[in-house]
Amino acid sequence: MSMEKVYLKDYEKPVYELSTIDLEFNLDDTKTLVKSKMKVKRLGSENQALVLDADEVELKAIFLEGEELHESEYELTSNSLTLHNLPKSFTLEIHNYINPEANTALDGLYKSSGIFCTQNEPEGFRRITYFLDRPDVMAVYTTKIIADKKKYPILLSNGNLFEKGDLSDGKHYAIWKDPFPKPSYLYALVAGDLGVVNDSFKTMSDKDIELNIYCDKGNESKCSFAMESLKNSMKWDEERFGREYDLDIYNIVAVDSFNMGAMENKGLNIFNSHYVLADSDTATDTNFMGIESVIGHEYFHNWTGNRITCRDWFQLTLKEGLTVFRDQEFSSDLNSRAVQRISDVKALRERQFVEDASPTSHPIKPESYIQINNFYTATIYEKGAEVIRMIHTLLGEENFRAAMDLYFETFDGQAVRTEDFIWAMQEKSPFNLEQFKLWYSQSGTPELDISSVYDKKSKTFKVTIKQCFLSPVNTEQKPYFFPFKIALLDNKAQELNLILENNSSQILLDKNILIISKEEETFVFKDVDATPLMSFNQNFSAPVKVHTSYSLDEYAFLMANDKDEFNRFEASQTLASMVLHKIIDAVESDLPMSLSPIFVSAFDKVLKDMDLDLSLKADMLTLPSVSMLMQDRKVLDVEAIYIAKNFVKRELVRELGADIKGQYISLINTKEYSLDSKEMSKRKLKNTLLTYLGALKDSGVVKAQYDNSNNMTDRLTALSVLANSRENAKIDALTDFYERYKDNTLVMNKYLAVIASSELKETPANVLKLLDDEIFDIKVPNLVRSLIGSFARNALHFHAVNGKGYKFVADKVIELDKLNPQIASGLSGVFKDYSRLNDNARNLMKKELEKILSTKDLSKNVYEIVSKILV
Ligand code: PHE
Ligand code: ZN
Repeated sequence: MSMEKVYLKDYEKPVYELSTIDLEFNLDDTKTLVKSKMKVKRLGSENQALVLDADEVELKAIFLEGEELHESEYELTSNSLTLHNLPKSFTLEIHNYINPEANTALDGLYKSSGIFCTQNEPEGFRRITYFLDRPDVMAVYTTKIIADKKKYPILLSNGNLFEKGDLSDGKHYAIWKDPFPKPSYLYALVAGDLGVVNDSFKTMSDKDIELNIYCDKGNESKCSFAMESLKNSMKWDEERFGREYDLDIYNIVAVDSFNMGAMENKGLNIFNSHYVLADSDTATDTNFMGIESVIGHEYFHNWTGNRITCRDWFQLTLKEGLTVFRDQEFSSDLNSRAVQRISDVKALRERQFVEDASPTSHPIKPESYIQINNFYTATIYEKGAEVIRMIHTLLGEENFRAAMDLYFETFDGQAVRTEDFIWAMQEKSPFNLEQFKLWYSQSGTPELDISSVYDKKSKTFKVTIKQCFLSPVNTEQKPYFFPFKIALLDNKAQELNLILENNSSQILLDKNILIISKEEETFVFKDVDATPLMSFNQNFSAPVKVHTSYSLDEYAFLMANDKDEFNRFEASQTLASMVLHKIIDAVESDLPMSLSPIFVSAFDKVLKDMDLDLSLKADMLTLPSVSMLMQDRKVLDVEAIYIAKNFVKRELVRELGADIKGQYISLINTKEYSLDSKEMSKRKLKNTLLTYLGALKDSGVVKAQYDNSNNMTDRLTALSVLANSRENAKIDALTDFYERYKDNTLVMNKYLAVIASSELKETPANVLKLLDDEIFDIKVPNLVRSLIGSFARNALHFHAVNGKGYKFVADKVIELDKLNPQIASGLSGVFKDYSRLNDNARNLMKKELEKILSTKDLSKNVYEIVSKILV
């Protein structure tokens, strides 16, 4: 396999058009026969060959205009089929075999616990049949599926059902037609003995849509939340974006073996069952919210992704960034906006900021790739969504909606570029977006230095904002254009009117938004009576890091008083980080640890604030995660971070334990479980407090919560707190949990993650044992992520000084690479802190990375990631 890079600058239009394709599948576990009949038109000159993509397919026969071709009339390699001297237009029929059972990569057509299903984004269709497998080749698909009727009573593909019937030998067939031209990556097929839940939706123009969710039999009752979410999504896209569904039927299928979260195939979404199945006994509140957002995400793709798709894979953020923005807005409109924003920004920081500070950093629109599968990243998705959000902020809701309408009108049915999207935005924008485009081409998280001076005599407050450029891979950076939302607070926490000295286009006055465009600029505010405190980047208006010289007291003031709820949370995290980093420094230089009383009192204030939204309160009382803290260390000393964090927890409990416990008890609820947002917030706060109570000597309350809980949210929190304790209660709870749920693989994922994430020293041994447990199967991605992935993200054990953590994960990367390269390369990303390790750790990791690179027949996927890390 070639490790060559593909470049955006090399893009060329397809030289052939494939306008219709009729597919027929004779489904068989190991030898499925695929027949494809295509109408082909040559667009270029006569001497241009037709080169079809292929991967792991076995050619049986080719017919040109009905005439079978002889071997000498085409060129066949393992990844292509080339035909020369073709007429201007013709039909091409190809017969080939594929082996779904051997397809452990879960890419193309494969079997997942008895169900045939497909995954074709980005380049899986070439593993089904010979095709121009690129998103700018759009065709109308018809599918005939032939299969054993008893084993596979349900036969599905894209579009609407056209015909079905029985055949001889106990077989039956179904024909599906999708009237919308689409790229091959949106093609899907499913066959199995599935349970189904039905419902319907009336669209805004009064069309009745049939809705079906298919799952393993016996799980039907766990689909109701997903179905509600689907109907909510359909309604929301009509109300907020004026977008209506366009087929008669919308099918969703849940499967257990799936590389990603879900896939937006036209009219036939295929989902990881993790994002469909849920009830109060087996799913947490977070799981429910995840289902709502992923169901929404895939549904919203119907317009942003399917009706308007990507010209090439460098444009991936065109559909992903935009669709994540849409699903975030959906969740914000249905639930609490501030809480949603906090959780989205947390995810951005934990995953995307880390990626953007690492050797795999890339712009949301990359210039090159070796394996496109590696680019389904937090950057393309989450940073991509932040870029759309900034456009939304700059335009305002009304203009943004108008620009979206224009985008849909202009490009419906086409495969386009991010430039086309920006064009539509520009048409309705009060600002020139030329400089804004740098967000698409530059990588790295921008950093800002903010300084200010108050001048009593002139009553002016001068704020200077400087953009610093620290991208790890891109040194020649130009300043960005972005909205920066601020407020100036007086000492009573009243917001001042912002009056700029030279009023210019620098500010959207009605919205307190500064427009930043220069490397360094100064804003002078007039009529300021006394030194104010600036609350900055409110609601995270731009995805940047900000450096200030604020004191602990100033952050404590913002934490208690900011009108922007998101920024109260931000201040709580900044304050906690400042305090924690000081303690980590102390641990690293063997000095005594001490916790700042300013922090304790700020924490206490939040704890006792009875007006705060409970969910916001829970977020504010949560300490920054280890991985957040790791980001700000120059040289990593992981153990010191754990020591510091545990110290802070113990100190807080020592000082405020009685209040924490009192409030915890007041939140215990014996009522029936409900997904009402008030109840969810209560549980969230209660469980946040429980994680502190875990630091008490006696873990009685924790075990009591485990025993008495009537839902998975409470039970799982108690279990994970216990999993870090040394008491017998831990053993009892873990055994109980295993026995209770061992037949439910989604719950066993949680069990594996809890054990693999424990700080206790027996964790590596426990993980090894679980690899051989009957609940584990290395071929199922969810299980790999839960056990091996959680262990690899357990920094304490992954970075063990004896190097065993690195060796374990490297060995698993090599083992997985043979089965499923996409999952292997995802796992190999955990080595990305390489360059920040101390000498000893770096040498140990280097050995393992080199071992991976020298593995025979290493996939492009893993090669691309590991070779970037090792340079
Ligand atoms: N396009 C899918 C989504 O974001 C993600 C995906 C990519 C799924 C590749 C499978 C394979 O909704
Ligand atoms: Zn998506």
